[in-house]
Amino acid sequence: MNLSSLKVLNPIVSLDELKKYEDVIGDEDIDSLILKVDHISLGTKSINLLRKLYSDFLYIGGSVLEDVHRWPAEQKDTPIEFHKNMFSLELNDFFVVGVSPGSKNDQIDKFMNGEETTKIHHIAFLVRNFNLAIEMFKDQLDFRCLDCAKPNQGDIRQVFLIHENRNILVEIVWRSDVNSKNLIHKNIVTLSSSLEAYKNVS
Ligand SMILES: [Fe+2]
Repeated sequence: MNLSSLKVLNPIVSLDELKKYEDVIGDEDIDSLILKVDHISLGTKSINLLRKLYSDFLYIGGSVLEDVHRWPAEQKDTPIEFHKNMFSLELNDFFVVGVSPGSKNDQIDKFMNGEETTKIHHIAFLVRNFNLAIEMFKDQLDFRCLDCAKPNQGDIRQVFLIHENRNILVEIVWRSDVNSKNLIHKNIVTLSSSLEAYKNVS
């Protein structure tokens, strides 16, 4: 798996941080399963830093999918700890999702832990076969599935897997339309919930 296209993120994100993904996703069998990087999720500590990150991506040629906004638009049915500010921008052959906390002590706030630098929250890989990719990440690369019992739905299937020793979170994505850049509200809630459940038992 070649992550060289992600080098466009330098110097916005440290290449050392990207390298830890490259080291893991290097297996030949995995290579044939992964079609490409679908998206990368980057965290910032505050909405002001998120706006700065958004501007940086515009400056290097990103095309806007969604500008900085509050998610979810309808807030009442989504747990407060999952609320966030976010944007999405297309870059070359993948897209970037930027997030910042919606409130103190929510999921993104805890992830950022007060750090000023932009941090990779996860990298999402678009795969040819959803279930097979999950099995290979588990069996060959020592990842652990978060909430794999709940297969996601319809035209997009998504799940988080974590490599605890390396502290790497990846997302496996399968799309019926490989060119789609859709993110589905329900899937974001499910993914956030799986991460929360994992932290609560760790
Ligand atoms: Fe994602």
